[in-house]
Amino acid sequence: MKGDPSKLGFATRAIHAGQPPDARTGAVAVPIYQTSTYVQHALGEPAEFEYARVQNPTRFALEALVASLEGGASGHAFASGMSAIACLMTLLKTGDHAVVSRNVYGGTYRYFTHLLEPYGLTFSWVDTTDPAKVLAAMRPETKLVYLETPTNPVMDVCDIAALAELAHGRGALVAVDNTFLTPYLQRPLELGADFVLHSTTKYLNGHSDSIGGVLIPKSTGHGEHFYFVQKSQGAILSPFDSFLTMRGIKTLPVRMERHEKNAHAIVDYLLRQAKVRKVLWPGLPEHPGHAVQKRQASGFGAMISLEMGSFAAAKAMLDQVKLMAFAESLGGVETLISHPASMTHAGVDPDVKQRLGISDSLVRLSVGVEDPDDIIADLGNALEKL
Ligand SMILES: Cc1ncc(COP(=O)(O)O)c(C=O)c1O
Repeated sequence: MKGDPSKLGFATRAIHAGQPPDARTGAVAVPIYQTSTYVQHALGEPAEFEYARVQNPTRFALEALVASLEGGASGHAFASGMSAIACLMTLLKTGDHAVVSRNVYGGTYRYFTHLLEPYGLTFSWVDTTDPAKVLAAMRPETKLVYLETPTNPVMDVCDIAALAELAHGRGALVAVDNTFLTPYLQRPLELGADFVLHSTTKYLNGHSDSIGGVLIPKSTGHGEHFYFVQKSQGAILSPFDSFLTMRGIKTLPVRMERHEKNAHAIVDYLLRQAKVRKVLWPGLPEHPGHAVQKRQASGFGAMISLEMGSFAAAKAMLDQVKLMAFAESLGGVETLISHPASMTHAGVDPDVKQRLGISDSLVRLSVGVEDPDDIIADLGNALEKL
């Protein structure tokens, strides 16, 4: 397109923001600039592009795109979701404290407890569905409130706007891992958060063929710091993965609509199955976070957790499915089924897992975009054999 897409609708920006036609050839897809360096004009005449750890046009296009979709000052793309989180955490120094949703992704828990605590950072693992508990955990040295909503895999929902107000009142910044919902369904910066991040490995790329992460700040000052970290630590996203992620994002709105429509159909089916003890999905009116999520997001997503009653039942279910893949990860076009206690949350201490409800009998579904009847038939066949 010609002109500035910044005022256009979400689905239009998903296709055009940060991606003007290539100036030289008119290519509508941003080329993959697979180069490590760029020719300089002359000594003392710095060029816009000098060295690809610092500047790469394909990565820059993806970064502009995600900044537009989340409504941030800039975007910063990394080699994984974990390296986006690592970049965020460079804002904290020895002696600083963070309040963290008690049920974050297991890798985030592992990173904070095993790698950052030894550097003198401290963390309080809090039920962030309750603002009073967050307030009680705040200390004079609290610099960050780090949220996931809905949480992985127990689907706790927290009120981003209320927590942002509370944190800002105490001088702390707020970060939200928005991997589960994507900016199509939830935009934390508009709700008052200071940072939003994603494992792009999941819905943003959407096709289970790339590992990556993005970090999007609200302020340009934080953006400058994150750019400096990208340049200094070097955990940047490759040009090819930037291309794949951008290509994935073009269809994000249509994929998310279909993911969620399928999730509705599957939840309706599962609720009628006696062998499934409990269905955890914020779209259910009886879910404790339903009202908050309805207010702060435009949908409920397609991550569903099932309480199967026993480890044997959970295992039998995982062993019997045929269409859905038994695999880590989420957010791809194909339906995935997993066992959080031994997979994504294997790194979480057993007593913590028990306290959070990440039991051996919990099974997690990442509902894909296949024909819903086929997913339901696969679940039905597996349940019949339990
Ligand atoms: C919610 C969430 N955040 C962050 C991550 C880490 O992302 P990555 O695996 O791309 O490093 C994951 C990975 O599963 C995740 O589920």
